[in-house]
Amino acid sequence: MRRNNTAGPLEDTVTVDGKKRIVVLASGRGSNFQAILDEVLTGSIRGTCIRLISDVAGCYALERAKSSRVPVTLVDYHSFPSKDAYEKALLFAMKECSPDLVVLAGYMRILGKDIVRSFHGKIMNIHPALLPSFPGLHAQRQAISYGVKVAGCTVHFVDEMMDTGPVILQKCVPVLPDDDEDSLSERILHEEHRCYPLAVKLFCEDHLKIEGRVVRVR
Ligand code: GRF
Repeated sequence: MRRNNTAGPLEDTVTVDGKKRIVVLASGRGSNFQAILDEVLTGSIRGTCIRLISDVAGCYALERAKSSRVPVTLVDYHSFPSKDAYEKALLFAMKECSPDLVVLAGYMRILGKDIVRSFHGKIMNIHPALLPSFPGLHAQRQAISYGVKVAGCTVHFVDEMMDTGPVILQKCVPVLPDDDEDSLSERILHEEHRCYPLAVKLFCEDHLKIEGRVVRVR
């Protein structure tokens, strides 16, 4: 099922002034989406959030988008008969936007190979750990259990594996003796909200260049 809140065809969503066309994918509360959107709205990021796409009906990220008049598309995972059918619909929705950049902001599924190949070098993700440590789910819990003294977040380009793409930016936070998963997550999230908008800003100003595994910040 797809829904959008614009009157005309999606192609009508035109970006002016050479700003990058940013599409955000989110499944949950959308605090990273909000942090990026805030910087877009102040003009600090030379881009326009042309659409929020979500796979989860009723998620708070959709409400955030609607409050800021960002067009939304729901590609509801549970309304498709198979993962393959869902991925095809998602790819279609993404292509319709002709994005310069796709931002995964708490998008809780692994993107299929067709999507990753279609937007090679144009998809970013944020992960709440210092990759390559603690990839996958519950990264903060993994960090606490392992007993590391430093944790953080990583913004990276997305490749065909999970949490393995070229690293753009990382920020560290201390792990304190009394930390639990929640307190560490909160400290990391604070840094995510600074790190992710900065990475998007750098991309929109053409300052990022991927050379193999390495991202050069020019
Ligand atoms: C963040 O911790 C992010 O690192 C991870 O999922 C969480 C999303 O939070 N990928 P939010 O939806 O942006 O608030």
